[in-house]
Amino acid sequence: MNSISAMGGNTNSWRIFTYKELHTATNGFTEDNKLGEGGFGSVYWGKTSDGLQIAVKKLKAMNSKAEMEFALEVEVLGRVRHKNLLGLRGYCVGSDQRLIVYDYMPNLSLLSHLHGQLADDVRLDWKKRMKVAIGSAEGILYLHHDVTPHIIHRDIKASNVLLDSDFEPLVADFGFAKLIPEGVSHMTTRIKGTLGYLAPEYAMWGKVSWSCDVYSFGILLLEILTGRKPIEKLPGGLKRTITEWAEPLILQGRFKELVDPKLRGDFDEDQLKQGINVAALCVQSESEKRPNMKEVVNMLKGYDPRGKEMDLRIRSVKYKEELLALDQPSDDDDDDDVDDYTGVPDESEYGIFSALEVQKMQDTYKHYGDKKVEKHV
Ligand SMILES: Nc1ncnc2c1ncn2[C@@H]1O[C@H](COP(=O)(O)OP(=O)(O)OP(=O)(O)O)[C@@H](O)[C@H]1O
Ligand SMILES: [Mg+2]
Repeated sequence: MNSISAMGGNTNSWRIFTYKELHTATNGFTEDNKLGEGGFGSVYWGKTSDGLQIAVKKLKAMNSKAEMEFALEVEVLGRVRHKNLLGLRGYCVGSDQRLIVYDYMPNLSLLSHLHGQLADDVRLDWKKRMKVAIGSAEGILYLHHDVTPHIIHRDIKASNVLLDSDFEPLVADFGFAKLIPEGVSHMTTRIKGTLGYLAPEYAMWGKVSWSCDVYSFGILLLEILTGRKPIEKLPGGLKRTITEWAEPLILQGRFKELVDPKLRGDFDEDQLKQGINVAALCVQSESEKRPNMKEVVNMLKGYDPRGKEMDLRIRSVKYKEELLALDQPSDDDDDDDVDDYTGVPDESEYGIFSALEVQKMQDTYKHYGDKKVEKHV
Protein backbone atom coordinates (compact mmCIF):
# COMPACT_ATOMS: atom_id res chain seq x y z
CA MET A 1 0.00 0.00 0.00
CA ASN A 2 1.01 3.60 -0.17
CA SER A 3 3.42 4.95 2.31
CA ILE A 4 1.69 6.78 5.08
CA SER A 5 3.56 8.43 7.87
CA ALA A 6 2.08 8.54 11.34
CA MET A 7 1.06 11.90 12.69
CA GLY A 8 3.43 12.57 15.57
CA GLY A 9 3.05 14.83 18.56
CA ASN A 10 -0.69 14.48 18.80
CA THR A 11 -2.63 12.65 21.46
CA ASN A 12 -4.96 11.49 18.70
CA SER A 13 -2.06 10.15 16.71
CA TRP A 14 -2.17 6.73 15.18
CA ARG A 15 0.48 4.10 14.84
CA ILE A 16 1.26 0.84 13.16
CA PHE A 17 0.34 -2.30 15.11
CA THR A 18 1.88 -5.73 14.62
CA TYR A 19 -0.40 -8.63 13.80
CA LYS A 20 0.81 -10.45 16.90
CA GLU A 21 -0.14 -7.48 19.08
CA LEU A 22 -3.68 -7.37 17.67
CA HIS A 23 -4.00 -11.13 17.82
CA THR A 24 -3.15 -11.05 21.54
CA ALA A 25 -5.35 -8.01 22.20
CA THR A 26 -8.42 -9.67 20.67
CA ASN A 27 -7.78 -13.08 22.24
CA GLY A 28 -6.96 -14.55 18.85
CA PHE A 29 -9.95 -12.93 17.07
CA THR A 30 -12.34 -15.30 18.84
CA GLU A 31 -16.10 -15.24 18.32
CA ASP A 32 -16.50 -14.02 21.91
CA ASN A 33 -14.64 -10.86 21.00
CA LYS A 34 -16.62 -10.21 17.84
CA LEU A 35 -18.62 -6.97 17.85
CA GLY A 36 -20.19 -7.52 14.48
CA GLU A 37 -19.68 -8.00 10.81
CA GLY A 38 -19.97 -5.58 7.93
CA GLY A 39 -19.30 -5.33 4.24
CA PHE A 40 -15.54 -5.60 4.58
CA GLY A 41 -15.09 -8.06 7.37
CA SER A 42 -15.49 -8.52 11.08
CA VAL A 43 -14.93 -6.12 13.95
CA TYR A 44 -13.43 -7.42 17.22
CA TRP A 45 -13.15 -5.92 20.67
CA GLY A 46 -9.68 -5.92 22.17
CA LYS A 47 -7.44 -4.52 24.85
CA THR A 48 -3.83 -3.56 24.21
CA SER A 49 -1.03 -4.31 26.66
CA ASP A 50 -1.16 -0.69 27.82
CA GLY A 51 -4.87 -1.03 28.66
CA LEU A 52 -6.46 0.75 25.69
CA GLN A 53 -9.78 -0.71 24.55
CA ILE A 54 -9.84 -1.03 20.80
CA ALA A 55 -12.09 -2.19 17.98
CA VAL A 56 -10.19 -4.03 15.25
CA LYS A 57 -11.66 -4.31 11.78
CA LYS A 58 -10.24 -7.34 9.99
CA LEU A 59 -10.79 -7.29 6.26
CA LYS A 60 -12.25 -10.60 5.19
CA ALA A 61 -10.85 -10.88 1.70
CA MET A 62 -7.57 -9.61 0.49
CA ASN A 63 -7.87 -8.69 -3.13
CA SER A 64 -6.96 -5.62 -5.09
CA LYS A 65 -10.37 -4.07 -4.49
CA ALA A 66 -10.23 -4.60 -0.74
CA GLU A 67 -6.66 -3.36 -0.71
CA MET A 68 -7.72 -0.21 -2.51
CA GLU A 69 -10.55 0.35 -0.03
CA PHE A 70 -8.14 -0.24 2.81
CA ALA A 71 -5.64 2.28 1.51
CA LEU A 72 -8.43 4.79 1.01
CA GLU A 73 -9.91 4.28 4.44
CA VAL A 74 -6.57 4.61 6.20
CA GLU A 75 -5.70 7.65 4.16
CA VAL A 76 -8.98 9.39 4.88
CA LEU A 77 -9.11 8.42 8.54
CA GLY A 78 -5.62 9.76 9.02
CA ARG A 79 -6.66 13.25 8.02
CA VAL A 80 -9.89 13.76 9.92
CA ARG A 81 -10.00 15.31 13.37
CA HIS A 82 -13.43 16.11 14.76
CA LYS A 83 -15.29 15.27 17.95
CA ASN A 84 -18.03 13.60 15.91
CA LEU A 85 -15.84 11.49 13.63
CA LEU A 86 -14.25 8.19 14.62
CA GLY A 87 -10.60 8.70 13.82
CA LEU A 88 -7.92 6.15 13.26
CA ARG A 89 -6.02 4.58 16.17
CA GLY A 90 -3.80 2.52 13.93
CA TYR A 91 -3.49 -0.18 11.34
CA CYS A 92 -1.67 -3.37 10.57
CA VAL A 93 -0.44 -4.57 7.24
CA GLY A 94 0.76 -8.14 6.95
CA SER A 95 1.55 -10.20 3.89
CA ASP A 96 -2.02 -11.43 3.60
CA GLN A 97 -4.06 -9.42 6.03
CA ARG A 98 -5.16 -5.84 6.60
CA LEU A 99 -6.53 -4.57 9.89
CA ILE A 100 -7.74 -1.18 11.03
CA VAL A 101 -7.71 -0.17 14.68
CA TYR A 102 -10.20 2.28 16.19
CA ASP A 103 -10.99 3.33 19.72
CA TYR A 104 -13.64 1.06 21.13
CA MET A 105 -16.94 2.87 21.61
CA PRO A 106 -18.50 1.58 24.85
CA ASN A 107 -22.06 2.47 23.89
CA LEU A 108 -21.73 0.67 20.57
CA SER A 109 -23.70 1.84 17.56
CA LEU A 110 -26.88 3.84 17.16
CA LEU A 111 -28.27 0.78 15.39
CA SER A 112 -27.88 -1.37 18.50
CA HIS A 113 -29.84 1.21 20.54
CA LEU A 114 -32.61 1.72 18.01
CA HIS A 115 -33.16 -1.81 16.76
CA GLY A 116 -30.53 -4.12 18.20
CA GLN A 117 -29.44 -5.71 21.44
CA LEU A 118 -29.71 -2.50 23.51
CA ALA A 119 -33.09 -1.30 22.16
CA ASP A 120 -35.15 -2.68 25.05
CA ASP A 121 -33.12 -0.76 27.65
CA VAL A 122 -34.26 2.55 26.10
CA ARG A 123 -31.09 4.29 27.18
CA LEU A 124 -31.47 6.63 24.25
CA ASP A 125 -33.88 9.16 25.71
CA TRP A 126 -35.11 12.22 23.83
CA LYS A 127 -32.25 14.49 24.91
CA LYS A 128 -29.66 11.94 23.84
CA ARG A 129 -31.42 11.49 20.50
CA MET A 130 -31.20 15.23 19.84
CA LYS A 131 -27.52 15.17 20.75
CA VAL A 132 -26.92 12.21 18.44
CA ALA A 133 -28.78 13.90 15.57
CA ILE A 134 -26.95 17.22 15.88
CA GLY A 135 -23.55 15.65 16.54
CA SER A 136 -23.79 13.32 13.53
CA ALA A 137 -24.84 16.26 11.36
CA GLU A 138 -21.82 18.22 12.60
CA GLY A 139 -19.50 15.32 11.80
CA ILE A 140 -20.84 15.11 8.25
CA LEU A 141 -20.66 18.91 7.92
CA TYR A 142 -16.96 18.74 8.81
CA LEU A 143 -16.38 16.09 6.12
CA HIS A 144 -18.23 18.16 3.53
CA HIS A 145 -16.83 21.57 4.31
CA ASP A 146 -13.79 21.59 6.55
CA VAL A 147 -11.48 18.78 5.56
CA THR A 148 -9.33 19.19 2.44
CA PRO A 149 -10.01 17.70 -0.01
CA HIS A 150 -13.67 17.54 0.87
CA ILE A 151 -15.17 14.15 1.61
CA ILE A 152 -18.53 12.60 0.74
CA HIS A 153 -19.10 9.77 3.19
CA ARG A 154 -21.52 7.68 1.05
CA ASP A 155 -22.43 5.22 3.81
CA ILE A 156 -24.25 7.23 6.46
CA LYS A 157 -26.38 4.77 8.44
CA ALA A 158 -27.17 3.79 12.01
CA SER A 159 -24.42 1.14 12.31
CA ASN A 160 -21.88 3.75 11.27
CA VAL A 161 -22.82 6.13 14.06
CA LEU A 162 -21.01 4.98 17.19
CA LEU A 163 -21.62 6.27 20.68
CA ASP A 164 -18.96 7.07 23.27
CA SER A 165 -19.41 6.81 27.04
CA ASP A 166 -21.28 10.17 27.06
CA PHE A 167 -23.46 9.21 24.10
CA GLU A 168 -21.57 11.65 21.94
CA PRO A 169 -22.01 10.31 18.39
CA LEU A 170 -18.98 9.52 16.22
CA VAL A 171 -19.57 8.91 12.53
CA ALA A 172 -17.42 5.99 11.40
CA ASP A 173 -16.32 4.17 8.26
CA PHE A 174 -14.80 6.29 5.60
CA GLY A 175 -13.87 3.31 3.46
CA PHE A 176 -16.62 4.28 1.06
CA ALA A 177 -15.61 7.89 1.07
CA LYS A 178 -14.45 9.78 -1.92
CA LEU A 179 -11.85 12.48 -1.84
CA ILE A 180 -13.26 15.16 -4.06
CA PRO A 181 -10.90 17.19 -6.22
CA GLU A 182 -11.43 20.95 -6.26
CA GLY A 183 -14.19 22.09 -8.59
CA VAL A 184 -15.84 18.69 -8.99
CA SER A 185 -19.40 18.60 -7.73
CA HIS A 186 -20.25 14.99 -8.33
CA MET A 187 -18.83 11.83 -9.77
CA THR A 188 -20.37 8.88 -11.43
CA THR A 189 -19.36 5.89 -9.46
CA ARG A 190 -20.32 2.39 -8.63
CA ILE A 191 -23.24 1.97 -6.33
CA LYS A 192 -22.30 1.17 -2.78
CA GLY A 193 -24.00 1.73 0.50
CA THR A 194 -27.20 0.47 1.89
CA LEU A 195 -30.61 0.38 0.33
CA GLY A 196 -33.02 2.49 2.32
CA TYR A 197 -30.47 5.23 2.92
CA LEU A 198 -29.55 5.74 -0.73
CA ALA A 199 -30.60 8.90 -2.52
CA PRO A 200 -32.58 8.04 -5.68
CA GLU A 201 -30.15 9.71 -8.08
CA TYR A 202 -27.29 7.75 -6.49
CA ALA A 203 -29.16 4.44 -6.57
CA MET A 204 -30.34 4.95 -10.16
CA TRP A 205 -27.42 6.68 -11.80
CA GLY A 206 -24.56 6.33 -9.37
CA LYS A 207 -24.46 10.09 -9.19
CA VAL A 208 -22.61 11.05 -6.03
CA SER A 209 -22.78 14.49 -4.52
CA TRP A 210 -22.94 16.08 -1.09
CA SER A 211 -26.69 15.84 -1.21
CA CYS A 212 -26.52 12.02 -1.21
CA ASP A 213 -25.17 12.22 2.32
CA VAL A 214 -27.89 14.77 3.12
CA TYR A 215 -30.53 12.30 1.92
CA SER A 216 -29.01 9.47 4.01
CA PHE A 217 -28.85 11.79 6.99
CA GLY A 218 -32.55 12.59 6.50
CA ILE A 219 -33.37 8.88 6.67
CA LEU A 220 -31.15 8.51 9.74
CA LEU A 221 -32.91 11.45 11.39
CA LEU A 222 -36.34 9.91 10.73
CA GLU A 223 -35.02 6.69 12.21
CA ILE A 224 -33.78 8.47 15.37
CA LEU A 225 -37.11 10.26 15.86
CA THR A 226 -39.44 7.41 15.03
CA GLY A 227 -37.48 4.31 16.03
CA ARG A 228 -38.46 2.73 12.70
CA LYS A 229 -36.09 0.93 10.36
CA PRO A 230 -35.33 2.50 6.96
CA ILE A 231 -37.04 -0.49 5.38
CA GLU A 232 -39.35 -2.70 7.35
CA LYS A 233 -40.80 -6.05 6.59
CA LEU A 234 -44.57 -6.18 6.86
CA PRO A 235 -46.52 -9.33 7.61
CA GLY A 236 -46.84 -11.26 4.36
CA GLY A 237 -43.34 -10.33 3.26
CA LEU A 238 -44.08 -6.91 1.82
CA LYS A 239 -41.56 -4.20 2.54
CA ARG A 240 -42.16 -0.58 3.32
CA THR A 241 -39.72 2.31 3.48
CA ILE A 242 -39.69 4.70 6.40
CA THR A 243 -40.69 7.58 4.13
CA GLU A 244 -43.69 5.66 2.79
CA TRP A 245 -44.76 5.07 6.38
CA ALA A 246 -44.14 8.65 7.52
CA GLU A 247 -45.60 10.45 4.49
CA PRO A 248 -49.32 10.26 5.38
CA LEU A 249 -48.71 10.92 9.07
CA ILE A 250 -46.73 14.07 8.31
CA LEU A 251 -49.33 15.19 5.79
CA GLN A 252 -52.07 14.87 8.38
CA GLY A 253 -49.97 16.47 11.13
CA ARG A 254 -50.15 13.32 13.28
CA PHE A 255 -46.81 13.96 14.94
CA LYS A 256 -47.47 12.06 18.12
CA GLU A 257 -47.90 8.91 16.06
CA LEU A 258 -44.55 9.52 14.40
CA VAL A 259 -42.45 9.58 17.55
CA ASP A 260 -40.82 6.38 18.81
CA PRO A 261 -43.34 4.69 21.17
CA LYS A 262 -40.41 3.42 23.25
CA LEU A 263 -40.07 6.99 24.57
CA ARG A 264 -43.51 6.60 26.18
CA GLY A 265 -44.49 10.16 25.35
CA ASP A 266 -41.38 11.67 26.91
CA PHE A 267 -40.29 14.05 24.14
CA ASP A 268 -40.32 17.71 23.17
CA GLU A 269 -43.05 18.32 20.61
CA ASP A 270 -41.48 21.41 19.05
CA GLN A 271 -38.18 19.60 18.60
CA LEU A 272 -40.01 16.64 17.12
CA LYS A 273 -41.79 18.83 14.56
CA GLN A 274 -38.58 20.62 13.72
CA GLY A 275 -36.70 17.32 13.35
CA ILE A 276 -39.38 15.82 11.11
CA ASN A 277 -39.39 18.96 9.00
CA VAL A 278 -35.61 18.90 8.57
CA ALA A 279 -35.76 15.20 7.68
CA ALA A 280 -38.49 15.90 5.12
CA LEU A 281 -36.31 18.60 3.53
CA CYS A 282 -33.34 16.20 3.39
CA VAL A 283 -35.19 13.29 1.75
CA GLN A 284 -36.70 15.23 -1.14
CA SER A 285 -36.13 13.26 -4.31
CA GLU A 286 -34.90 16.35 -6.19
CA SER A 287 -31.32 16.61 -4.94
CA GLU A 288 -31.04 20.33 -5.70
CA LYS A 289 -33.87 21.11 -3.30
CA ARG A 290 -32.19 19.46 -0.34
CA PRO A 291 -30.44 21.72 2.17
CA ASN A 292 -26.70 21.46 2.69
CA MET A 293 -25.29 20.15 5.96
CA LYS A 294 -24.55 23.64 7.26
CA GLU A 295 -28.23 24.48 6.86
CA VAL A 296 -29.21 21.15 8.39
CA VAL A 297 -27.09 21.82 11.49
CA ASN A 298 -28.46 25.35 11.82
CA MET A 299 -32.04 24.17 11.44
CA LEU A 300 -31.59 21.39 14.00
CA LYS A 301 -30.12 23.86 16.46
CA GLY A 302 -33.09 26.17 15.87
CA TYR A 303 -30.96 28.94 14.31
CA ASP A 304 -32.60 28.73 10.90
CA PRO A 305 -36.34 29.46 10.80
CA ARG A 306 -36.82 27.17 7.80
CA GLY A 307 -36.47 24.26 10.21
CA LYS A 308 -39.79 25.30 11.69
CA GLU A 309 -41.75 25.92 8.50
CA MET A 310 -44.11 23.02 8.14
CA ASP A 311 -45.13 23.53 4.56
CA LEU A 312 -43.82 20.51 2.81
CA ARG A 313 -44.53 16.87 2.53
CA ILE A 314 -42.39 13.85 1.89
CA ARG A 315 -42.81 12.38 -1.52
CA SER A 316 -41.36 9.02 -0.85
CA VAL A 317 -39.28 7.12 -3.30
CA LYS A 318 -40.98 3.92 -4.40
CA TYR A 319 -38.77 0.87 -4.52
CA LYS A 320 -39.61 -1.94 -6.89
CA GLU A 321 -40.33 -5.27 -5.27
CA GLU A 322 -37.38 -7.03 -6.91
CA LEU A 323 -35.08 -4.29 -5.71
CA LEU A 324 -36.39 -4.47 -2.20
CA ALA A 325 -35.57 -8.15 -2.36
CA LEU A 326 -31.92 -7.15 -2.74
CA ASP A 327 -32.12 -5.55 0.65
CA GLN A 328 -32.15 -8.83 2.48
CA PRO A 329 -29.47 -11.46 2.18
CA SER A 330 -31.80 -14.10 3.63
CA ASP A 331 -35.45 -14.66 4.36
CA ASP A 332 -34.84 -15.07 8.04
CA ASP A 333 -37.05 -13.15 10.34
CA ASP A 334 -34.97 -10.12 10.96
CA ASP A 335 -36.45 -8.28 13.86
CA ASP A 336 -33.34 -8.58 15.96
CA ASP A 337 -30.88 -8.75 13.16
CA VAL A 338 -28.58 -5.77 13.44
CA ASP A 339 -27.18 -6.34 9.97
CA ASP A 340 -30.50 -6.60 8.27
CA TYR A 341 -30.19 -3.97 5.62
CA THR A 342 -26.74 -4.42 4.27
CA GLY A 343 -27.59 -6.67 1.38
CA VAL A 344 -26.76 -4.64 -1.72
CA PRO A 345 -24.34 -6.84 -3.63
CA ASP A 346 -20.90 -5.30 -3.64
CA GLU A 347 -20.17 -6.24 -7.21
CA SER A 348 -23.42 -4.84 -8.56
CA GLU A 349 -22.81 -2.55 -11.47
CA TYR A 350 -26.44 -1.68 -11.87
CA GLY A 351 -28.57 0.94 -10.33
CA ILE A 352 -30.78 -0.68 -7.76
CA PHE A 353 -33.94 1.14 -8.68
CA SER A 354 -33.69 0.06 -12.29
CA ALA A 355 -31.45 -2.15 -14.35
CA LEU A 356 -29.64 0.79 -15.89
CA GLU A 357 -25.96 0.22 -16.12
CA VAL A 358 -23.98 2.67 -14.14
CA GLN A 359 -21.23 4.32 -16.07
CA LYS A 360 -17.86 2.90 -15.20
CA MET A 361 -14.80 5.05 -15.27
CA GLN A 362 -11.18 4.04 -15.07
CA ASP A 363 -9.27 3.98 -11.86
CA THR A 364 -7.26 7.11 -11.42
CA TYR A 365 -4.53 8.21 -9.14
CA LYS A 366 -4.91 11.39 -7.23
CA HIS A 367 -1.89 13.21 -5.88
CA TYR A 368 -1.86 15.66 -3.07
CA GLY A 369 0.83 16.60 -0.65
CA ASP A 370 3.43 13.89 -0.56
CA LYS A 371 0.87 11.12 -0.57
CA LYS A 372 -0.53 9.11 -3.39
CA VAL A 373 -3.89 7.45 -3.05
CA GLU A 374 -5.34 4.97 -5.43
CA LYS A 375 -8.86 5.99 -6.26
CA HIS A 376 -11.71 4.22 -7.87
CA VAL A 377 -14.15 6.56 -9.54
N1 LIG B 1 -15.13 1.36 17.29
C1 LIG B 1 -16.18 0.58 17.49
N2 LIG B 1 -16.69 0.40 18.73
C2 LIG B 1 -17.78 -0.38 18.94
N3 LIG B 1 -18.44 -1.04 17.95
C3 LIG B 1 -17.98 -0.91 16.68
C4 LIG B 1 -16.83 -0.11 16.39
N4 LIG B 1 -16.63 -0.15 15.04
C5 LIG B 1 -17.59 -0.93 14.53
N5 LIG B 1 -18.41 -1.39 15.51
C6 LIG B 1 -19.58 -2.25 15.29
O1 LIG B 1 -19.18 -3.45 14.67
C7 LIG B 1 -20.16 -3.87 13.73
C8 LIG B 1 -19.52 -4.12 12.37
O2 LIG B 1 -19.08 -2.89 11.85
P1 LIG B 1 -18.76 -2.70 10.30
O3 LIG B 1 -18.39 -1.27 10.09
O4 LIG B 1 -17.80 -3.74 9.87
O5 LIG B 1 -20.16 -3.03 9.61
P2 LIG B 1 -21.46 -2.16 9.36
O6 LIG B 1 -21.28 -0.80 9.97
O7 LIG B 1 -22.63 -2.94 9.80
O8 LIG B 1 -21.52 -2.06 7.79
P3 LIG B 1 -20.47 -1.33 6.80
O9 LIG B 1 -19.50 -2.39 6.39
O10 LIG B 1 -21.31 -0.85 5.71
O11 LIG B 1 -19.83 -0.23 7.61
C9 LIG B 1 -21.23 -2.78 13.69
O12 LIG B 1 -22.32 -3.16 14.48
C10 LIG B 1 -20.55 -1.59 14.29
O13 LIG B 1 -21.46 -0.70 14.89
MG1 LIG C 1 -19.62 0.29 9.75
